[in-house]
Formats: sequence, C-alpha cells, structure tokens
Amino acid sequence: MKAHQLREQFINFFVTKHGHKRINGASLIPENDPTVLFTTAGMHPLVPYLLGEKHPQGTRLVDVQKCVRTDDIDEVGDTRHLTFFEMMGNWSLGDYFKEDAVKMSYEFLTAPVENGGIGLDPKRLSVSCFEGDKDAPKDEEAASTWESLGFRRAKDGEPLAGGLIYFYGKKENWWGPAGQTGPCGPDTEMFYDTGKDKCSQCDAKGVSCDCGKFVEIWNDVFMQYEKQEDGNFKPLAQQNVDTGLGFERALAILNGVETPFETELFIDALKKIRELSGLKNESEFAESQRIIADHIRAATFILGDPYGIAPSNTDQGYVLRRLIRRAIRHGKKIGIKESFTAEVAKIYIEYYKNVYPELDQFAEKIVNELEKEEEKFSKTILQGEKEFEKLLPNLMRGKNPMLPGRVAFKLYDTYGFPIEMTQELAKENGISVDMEEYEKAFEKHQELSRAGAEKKFAGGLADHSEQTTKLHTATHLLHEALRKVLGTHVEQKGSNITVDRLRFDFSHPDKMTDEQIKQVEDIVNEQIKRELDVTCEEMSLEEARKHGAMGLFESKYGETVKVYKIGDFSIEVCGGPHVKNTRELGGFKIQKEQSSSSGIRRIKGIIG
Ligand code: ALA
Repeated sequence: MKAHQLREQFINFFVTKHGHKRINGASLIPENDPTVLFTTAGMHPLVPYLLGEKHPQGTRLVDVQKCVRTDDIDEVGDTRHLTFFEMMGNWSLGDYFKEDAVKMSYEFLTAPVENGGIGLDPKRLSVSCFEGDKDAPKDEEAASTWESLGFRRAKDGEPLAGGLIYFYGKKENWWGPAGQTGPCGPDTEMFYDTGKDKCSQCDAKGVSCDCGKFVEIWNDVFMQYEKQEDGNFKPLAQQNVDTGLGFERALAILNGVETPFETELFIDALKKIRELSGLKNESEFAESQRIIADHIRAATFILGDPYGIAPSNTDQGYVLRRLIRRAIRHGKKIGIKESFTAEVAKIYIEYYKNVYPELDQFAEKIVNELEKEEEKFSKTILQGEKEFEKLLPNLMRGKNPMLPGRVAFKLYDTYGFPIEMTQELAKENGISVDMEEYEKAFEKHQELSRAGAEKKFAGGLADHSEQTTKLHTATHLLHEALRKVLGTHVEQKGSNITVDRLRFDFSHPDKMTDEQIKQVEDIVNEQIKRELDVTCEEMSLEEARKHGAMGLFESKYGETVKVYKIGDFSIEVCGGPHVKNTRELGGFKIQKEQSSSSGIRRIKGIIG
C-alpha cells in the first residue's frame, strides 16, 4: 500500500462509514500552549475541545497530524523510534465512547482493503487494557468489547501470542495529559505480531515487551479525566475518545517490511545518504544512516512549518539545532565529506510536497538554513574534536576512564561542542562522562540554562485558566494594534501564553521604537477601556476571508471555522477560548520587544 493510499483509506473509513468530519492537521509548533515545544500527538490542538469547548466541525473528527517527539531522541537509530512522524487519529468529543471506539479500530485494522480497512490478520493482533488503580477502575468495558470481537484474556504465565488481552497499569495503559495538567485517561493499545522470533522476555512481559516482536500500532485513549495541578484526576463532564495510529509503522507492516526506514518514505533519502558517503548497502553503519534520515526529515518539517523556526540556542530552535548537528556528526562518521543536509532535505521536500505543500512553500528557507547551520557546525566540530583528542592520552591512563563534567562543560561553553557529542565521542573511546558534575556546571551557568527549556516546558503551566484566556484575548488586540501602528505586513508567527504573560511573535523587519511601543500599548488599552464585547461566529473559511478575518488560510478541505470578533476592532480565525468583554483584561503593558529570528520580532506583555 502506498503512503497516500493509507492516509486516504484512514480518513475515508471514518468519514464515510462512521460520520466523522475531516479536519486539517495543525502546525508542528503549538499555538498558545506553553506546555510543550512541539505538537506531540493529534490530540494536542484539540485540548480545548476535549475540555468542553464546542468544535465547529462537530463531535466526530478525523485527521492526520504531523508530530515531533524529542524525548525519544536517544532511541532514534533503533528501528522503530522516529522524531518526526505522522499520527492518524479519530476523535469523539463527548459522542461515542469505549465500545464504539474499539469496534471502529478493529474494523479498520481487519476489514479487507476493498471494504475500507487495511486487512490485517486478526490472529496477529493482541491488545492491552488498563488494570485499574486508585484513580480509575479496571477497564472492563474495553476488555469485554475486545472479547466480543473474539479476543480472550491472557492467563497468568500464558506464552505471548495473538488474540489475547493483557492488563497493565498506568505506565503502559494510561495516556496524557500532554503537559502537567489537562485531559487524560485509560487507554487500550493494539499490537501487531511482526513475525519476528520472540526474545527471552516476551512470554513474561506479554505485549509490553519492547523487543519488536509485537509492535504497538494504535492507541485508543478514553479521555474522561482532567489531571489537576494538585495531581488529582477530576472526571470530565464529557467522555471523549482520542486515538493515535502510527502512520509509519502501519505503512511498514502493510508493505511487509520490518521498519519504516524500508518504506517509500525513506528509501530515496537513504539512497542519497549512501551515495554521498560511499556506503554500499543498508546494513553498513545502519544506525548512522537511520539517524541521518530521521533527523533531516524532522528538521525539514520543523523548518518548513509556517511558524518560522530557525536553529538557535533556545526552545524549538535548540531542538532543531540538536537534530541537524547530530545528523551532521553521523554524516562525518560514515564518511560524508561535503555539505549534505540540504541535499537530503531536497529529497524529502520533493517527496512530501503534495501532502504538505508548506515544504514546497518554504523550500528555499529549509535549504538555506540547513546550509548555514552546517557551515557553522563544521567549524565547531573540528575545533571540539581537536580539543577532545588532546584530552584523550591523559584520560586513557586510568582503569575506568571518566571525563570530568567540568571539562565536558568547558568543551560546550568554550567551543560550542554539544554535550551529546562529547558523550558519543567518549562512548566510542570507552570513556564515561561525569554527567552529574556536568549538570552542576551547566546549571551554574545561568544564561545558558535555557538549553534545558525542553525539560522546563515539559513540566510547564498547561492550563486553560481564566488568566490565560484573558491573555489570549489580549493577544488578538495586540495583533491588530501592531498592524495599525507598523503596517499590514505584520503577521502572527507564533504565540505562547503562560499564566504570567503573553508572548507574541510577528513578522516585522526592524526593532520597534519606544514611540511605536507606546502607541501599540495605548491602542490596546483604549480597546480595553471601550469595554468591547467579544463574539464568536462559525462560518466557512471563504466567508471568514471575505469578512477580512486574520488567520492562517491554508485549509484544504473547506472547513467551517470559528471567527472571534472584538467589537469593531479585531476579527480573527481562532479556536478560542476568549473573555466575554475586553474590560476583563484591566490593562495592558508591553514588557519587552526583542528579536526572535531574522525578520521576526517578539513581544512579551502582561495584563491587569
Ligand atoms: N494521544 C494518544 C497517543 O499519542 C492517542 O498515543
């Protein structure tokens, strides 16, 4: 099955057989959500609707969502983990629940292709359900639905096989929230027998064994709880279903290959990598080949996202830099002499552009940024490796050689040599790195501690509280005020809201003058004083455009959208939520105006 066929097969199944509406996948960079750096699952853009906000497309949705997960970054290189991937998902927003969700999943997996499914052999499927704990009961409903479909509960000590139901705790069978707080719940996961031999752990662990014999392909999450800041799970008024079917894994299975890297998604890129490096086949330096193929694909999609991320030392830009640099380092390892990341990216752009036209739209930027970063990093690498080699003779004298953390930090701090690379170089030479000492040195270095942004964000401030709602409305006012003062070239390039402040990125070539900042503040404050009502209407994207609404107009499927109006002042396509009247904001102040990246300015502002 071809990739595009699989996407269409999934969408069509839910649209035509089960009354779902197709929605557009969202940007890879989450909007208004400080809890994660990237969209990590299809549910992410849907959080407000899982919490009860009305979705303009109704209560049954389906899409294919671009995702980036960087917590797996050290696993990439094995055969299953990918940093960028596509997630096919269907949602019930307080509509159907466990029984229907499980039956739909089973039907799609096992119905023959000509009947709208993907024709997997049911005997090769096994599933897992939540075993219950103090927060939620054992998931009898999901399990008995699986029983009605011909599965049976695995007996204690029964050897791993198809057709079985396993029960596990939260670690395996609970999903979410994506950040610290938010919608979550027990899940049921579906696993496919790849036909590989069992490992020694398989029978004891069941489908939770991660040796690759049974691979997880689909997860149905029953989002019926909201995790609170105090750690408690509050039942949601609305019982939701959130599912995620791994596109790359499914494609591999359907084409009878063991890994996504052997599918059409990667074939040409890997060929190019071998051509550039002179490697003869897939098995030579397989891990490095996969790391390069994976990381450049992810970098291509991040650079090709409308939000304009470029390599930097903070937030998304830092993750992007790490991906590119790790790919380059493995490129060197397998003997690539020339600059190569852009060459590989071009292959992805060509391959994906019909499905993700943004890659074509931003092709030039993708190529330029990769070339720039590669040039910068090549200098850094040479320097760092030289310094490391100087250290080697001394280090190798001991019995269990260990590189002191402060030396690793110095390599980073003075030469820009990333710690991940020091670790890899050390590992290659049989040396360990004193990471505890490194972390300490790192933390001391206040200014550079932003590199830990990922961790900080993961424990962030996820919430859809009154305060963030107000800041969200303030963002709309700010957006329009900027256009009035600076001109209509101003477009939103990113928005990130915590309970303390808003942060708004927008296109504008120059630093704002104090005068301009003051004017913008005055205009926003005037709208707050005018006590404007905030209203919401649903309309087609076409109509929204005719009304002059701001927003990303990239929809391909003629969606109905929500349009928020703030009095006569602002009109914007937006999912909400917002305050009812601008008076609730109290007042507005710009705290900081600075550069975000080339051609993009960033404002931090507060209300009250
Ligand atoms: N949100 C669920 C996942 O990512 C479906 O697995």
